Amino acid sequence: MRLGPLNLASNLFLSPLAGYTNLPMRLTVRELGGLGFATTDLVNARSLIERSTGALRLVASAPGDRPWAIQLFGAVPEEMRDAAVICQELGADAVDINMGCPVKKVVKIGGGSAMMTELEKTAALVRGMIAAVKIPVTAKMRLGWDDQNLTAPDLARVLEDAGVAAVFVHGRTRAQGFAGRVNLAGIRSVVEAVKSIPVIGNGDVTTPEAAHHMLAETGCAGVSIGRGAFYDPWIFRRTDHLLQTGELLPEPDFPERIRVLRIHFERYLEFYGEEHGARLFRRVAPWYARRFGPAKPFKQTILTITSRSDFERCVADYTAWRARFCDEHGELLPKFQPDPMIASFMRAANDPLLERESIPVPKGPVENW
Ligand SMILES: Cc1cc2nc3c(=O)[nH]c(=O)nc-3n(C[C@H](O)[C@H](O)[C@H](O)COP(=O)(O)O)c2cc1C
Repeated sequence: MRLGPLNLASNLFLSPLAGYTNLPMRLTVRELGGLGFATTDLVNARSLIERSTGALRLVASAPGDRPWAIQLFGAVPEEMRDAAVICQELGADAVDINMGCPVKKVVKIGGGSAMMTELEKTAALVRGMIAAVKIPVTAKMRLGWDDQNLTAPDLARVLEDAGVAAVFVHGRTRAQGFAGRVNLAGIRSVVEAVKSIPVIGNGDVTTPEAAHHMLAETGCAGVSIGRGAFYDPWIFRRTDHLLQTGELLPEPDFPERIRVLRIHFERYLEFYGEEHGARLFRRVAPWYARRFGPAKPFKQTILTITSRSDFERCVADYTAWRARFCDEHGELLPKFQPDPMIASFMRAANDPLLERESIPVPKGPVENW
């Protein structure tokens, strides 16, 4: 798949989850394979121009974190333009504009999903950014402000004329927040509205099969996965494999989950320092534990860690405790196995994609997404 001048290894994207899709997570997920492109969490354009410590940490990247985009939010054309130039100077392969964020502090300044309500003004801002940089500029939007204002197809068309290289569409409105199910017909209407730029579909993809379904139902060129990558950092490799070969790879076993958990943890320590990193990791580890089988002691103890040794003790104690639920090969006995991923999100076995339960929303610094 191509994104402007970039040739991507797959058509699968990591969707930004503020507070989670930081450099440690991006590096960890990329190493597992299958991911074509990743984006930083959203960064306030003005804070980046002011080189605030927080903004610089958000845009931190590394040679293993390629190709990558920085996602900006803001509504002042000059600030968005100057921040885009900084992204280019920082070596980003693309700049993404947040047009979907429903959070009050973003919308109230005219950024995020408020940009979907004023198409001409938004297009002018985007033209200014595109004129200032050589790297591709993309936009990430929802379907519109609410059901009465489904502006995504019109906005995508206007942005294509302005020169954006791709659009990402989360198939919900701002009013919906995260309620209900993703609207695949809404994503399809954006695909049908543009002339030639890729449209990347997004929302509720937690399995390789759901990614395949989104591509088939909407005609989108790629799929962007946020919360699903949290449940399952292996989702990109397994989805890419499914799309390439039609074969569904098995889910990773417990030792593999622990191996990757530990790598992710070590990157947190490297990036944030030992104590702060360990504290921040308390809200990451429970997502891994969802697929461990019985995991209550792990979930309790991990919430108290402040160091590497606490983490290692928690993993060792839990691994020893978990052995009672396993056979002689270390496999969980069938009655303790977690539901296959697909069953935990989808109720009806014969029509799983229609009867989806809602996916929990991780709590982060950006509340009420
Ligand atoms: C905790 C959290 C943080 C998010 N942060 C961002 C963000 O910084 N920028 C953005 O464009 N979208 C953000 N989103 C929206 C996701 O990128 C994505 O569009 C949405 O979660 C739907 O996709 P999913 O079902 O695959 O998670 C966030 C969502 C959540 C739950």
